[in-house]
Amino acid sequence: MNLQAPGMKELKPQLDRLDLSRLPRHVAMIMDGNGRWAQARGLDRSAGHYEGVKSVRLATELSSDLGIDFLTLYAFSTENWNRPQQEVDVLMHLIGMAIQQETPDLVKNNVHLRLIGDLERMPEEAWNRLHACEVATAECTGLTLTLALSYSGRRELTRAASEIARAVAEGSLSLSDISEETLARHLHTQGMPDPDLLIRTGGEERISNYLLWQAAYSELYFTPTLWPDFDKSAYLEALINYQGRERRFGKTGDQVKSSHL
Ligand code: FPP
Repeated sequence: MNLQAPGMKELKPQLDRLDLSRLPRHVAMIMDGNGRWAQARGLDRSAGHYEGVKSVRLATELSSDLGIDFLTLYAFSTENWNRPQQEVDVLMHLIGMAIQQETPDLVKNNVHLRLIGDLERMPEEAWNRLHACEVATAECTGLTLTLALSYSGRRELTRAASEIARAVAEGSLSLSDISEETLARHLHTQGMPDPDLLIRTGGEERISNYLLWQAAYSELYFTPTLWPDFDKSAYLEALINYQGRERRFGKTGDQVKSSHL
């Protein structure tokens, strides 16, 4: 952990409550509440999205400083294409610009950018910026920051089913060889561990088509904090809460305890 990083000193009381040996390996986040944050201040919804970029930076920094391996952010769902065109345009421009601006820092901090979703639907300008960052950070070995863009969990699963069916029809895969691992290999997230912790800001308590397969055993953490207010302290609170939970994976509490002995 990088305790020398800016702002870490103020977080010391919370860091003292955190067991650094039991951090989640993969944290997924649903960033909700940008619009409400702006509307509460009499601002246009897009002001909330601009402010939300700061929280993206804070969550990335803290994940990286703590040594968390994977942070996966729901930046834009397939359903988000149905928002007013002006808001979609702002979001696409903002995501591309923010990633372009952050690319040197991501490289410096050894953060690898990965993109998942129906990326062919991304507008060219945003795609070019995102892809350039993917290329620039390809060799980085620290935190993997994954952005889910034009992402739908159901669509991802449907695509996987269709690829597997094609492989069976072509004879390169036999029906009896299809396992959970086969399906996982056909998801956008292939090669990544499943999220241990899924955080949703903004007060709603649902997973909204996000990482449907991958989140099967994730601990869910819902907070009323709106995404632009989700700072390092709020993130640490989620991590502390996660560590207070017992992950049973279908076993009894006694079985879990004896496996730790
Ligand atoms: C949900 O808030 C948020 C989004 C749909 C977009 C998230 C995007 C950002 C934080 C911009 C920057 C992203 C990156 C990766 C640089 P909402 O608009 O649904 O809020 P509401 O529920 O209050 O209406």
